[in-house]
Amino acid sequence: MSNPVILSPSLLSSDFGRLAEELAALEAAGLKWVHWDVMDGHFVPNITFGPPVIKSLRERSKLFFDVHLMIEKPERYLAEFVDAGADMLGVHAEASVHLERTVSEIKRLGAKACVTLNPHTPLSMVEYLLPDLDMVLIMSVNPGFGGQKFLDFTMDKIEQLAAMKAGVNPSMHIQVDGGVTPDNIAELTRRGADVFVSGSAFFNYPPYDQRLKTFMDAAQD
Ligand code: DX5
Ligand code: ZN
Repeated sequence: MSNPVILSPSLLSSDFGRLAEELAALEAAGLKWVHWDVMDGHFVPNITFGPPVIKSLRERSKLFFDVHLMIEKPERYLAEFVDAGADMLGVHAEASVHLERTVSEIKRLGAKACVTLNPHTPLSMVEYLLPDLDMVLIMSVNPGFGGQKFLDFTMDKIEQLAAMKAGVNPSMHIQVDGGVTPDNIAELTRRGADVFVSGSAFFNYPPYDQRLKTFMDAAQD
């Protein structure tokens, strides 16, 4: 049995001046998850927001906060992000040297744990951690910016990860982030992904309830 499809809209493409309204609109449209792209200006060139912004919006939203940390040495900030209200906390394998310790710490703090891999990073980086993970995020663009083109070679990577998890952690989520659209979501679902991040292809096409339906219908094709 595969996991049901989940769409996690990336706030990176939302209106930062109206984050509270955007979260309310997502909830009203039937979304369950929202994706927070945290960037530090080191691991990736951009800078976005940090724990205080997430915390101030946590009180106003029941959405599942899916937090994608694009920061160097994320182990320094795990407690702050969990305290701010992260439900799922994702760290890049490339940014955390003692990855098992980082994952254990996320779970000890009470959040779900995700490890993220850049497009070129081999799956072997997470192989031994699969039994302990709630999600692996396969980046399908180089992180740092919204609106980039999907890298086609990550399709095979998703399929290989789906095969790897089958024996050890079948309910683990496989998330894909970058260039996801209604045109590639069916293929991504067939290859084994179940949680889809979408920034520009979601927020640029309101109303959000109809856009959610477009993605969900396309995923069944
Ligand atoms: C990229 C971010 C993504 C981004 C996706 O660094 O991790 O979450 O917002 O944007 P789109 O869907 O426009 O590629
Ligand atoms: Zn992201």
